[in-house]
Amino acid sequence: MKYSFYDDYSEGVAPELLDYIASNNTDQQRGYCTDDYCVLASERIRAAFDMHSADVHYLPNGTVANVVGLVSMLKAYEGVISVKSGHINTHEAGALEATGHKILWVDSQDGKLNPELIEKAYASYEDEHTVRPKVVYITQPSELGTLYSLDELRAVVDSARSKGMYIYMDGARLAMALASPLTDIRMKDYGCIGIDMFYIGGTKNGGLYGEAMVILNKDLKSDFRYHIKQRGALMAKSRFMGQQFARFFDEDDLYMRLAVNATSSATKLAQGLHGLGVEITENGTNQLFPVLHNDAITRLSEQYGFYIWEKISDTQSRIRLVTSWATSELAVDELLSDLTGILAEGE
Ligand SMILES: Cc1ncc(COP(=O)(O)O)c(C=O)c1O
Repeated sequence: MKYSFYDDYSEGVAPELLDYIASNNTDQQRGYCTDDYCVLASERIRAAFDMHSADVHYLPNGTVANVVGLVSMLKAYEGVISVKSGHINTHEAGALEATGHKILWVDSQDGKLNPELIEKAYASYEDEHTVRPKVVYITQPSELGTLYSLDELRAVVDSARSKGMYIYMDGARLAMALASPLTDIRMKDYGCIGIDMFYIGGTKNGGLYGEAMVILNKDLKSDFRYHIKQRGALMAKSRFMGQQFARFFDEDDLYMRLAVNATSSATKLAQGLHGLGVEITENGTNQLFPVLHNDAITRLSEQYGFYIWEKISDTQSRIRLVTSWATSELAVDELLSDLTGILAEGE
């Protein structure tokens, strides 16, 4: 295989992170996210996002971050509103529901929630005979690679607030949203829009592992470490997560530089595909969903890794191509050149 476009975690770790870990390896540190690196990382995250009173915690992966975060916001009889395609609803093996909380999902064409859809999902709630919706779960970018604009996000927050619900944002790929030219939400906006809790993904932006959970709502802060511990996610060797996030958010802007490589590679790929006449929507993130003839997909899959996303017709399917912090221009050029040949043969 020439190159994998399966996902953004096929490569290892950004060398800058490994260097930082290696050169800060033999000092002794306290564990369980009380080490100096976690403290430093949290200071840097608070400064970068301009949210000076936020609590920051470190969790090993996205699924556990979602479970711990959402459970901490819910009473036993409360549930979470999500789009049908939301990661918690489709790709986490029912992890949240295994804790006893129902996901109240609603269909959405573009993978995003809006006030009308929230209203629709909320309408199933009556009284103590039904599950009470308490959290609105969104992802930025969405599972379909679409992005909320500032106005859209504000509308979702207002809608949730008006019904007494919390807003939780899954930011497994928040880096790509921050690096995207197709949304107007910047780092400093996330702390003041009214989101109660969100996480900043590390794993999918060149990290070894780890996600930084940010709690903005003061009512949700005090017991959070108990929730982490009870789910087995309070890491004794937390220093590695602290080191990664301290390095991501130091003055040379590594977090954004890695993300920009992913999104600009996707933009180049999207433009190239468009030039070949392939049906594709450029969404500004690092996930592309072009539609190709099934024969072309078979040929392309002999040389490149990617997922077939959905069947469009008997002859065509949508595939998913993901670029990463490490995708080279060469990989993009090669795919475009090979596809040019495949499409020409098919004519
Ligand atoms: C939006 C989103 N949330 C959560 C996750 C889960 O992350 P993990 O695989 O680290 O558990 C993913 C993984 O792809 C994701 O895309």
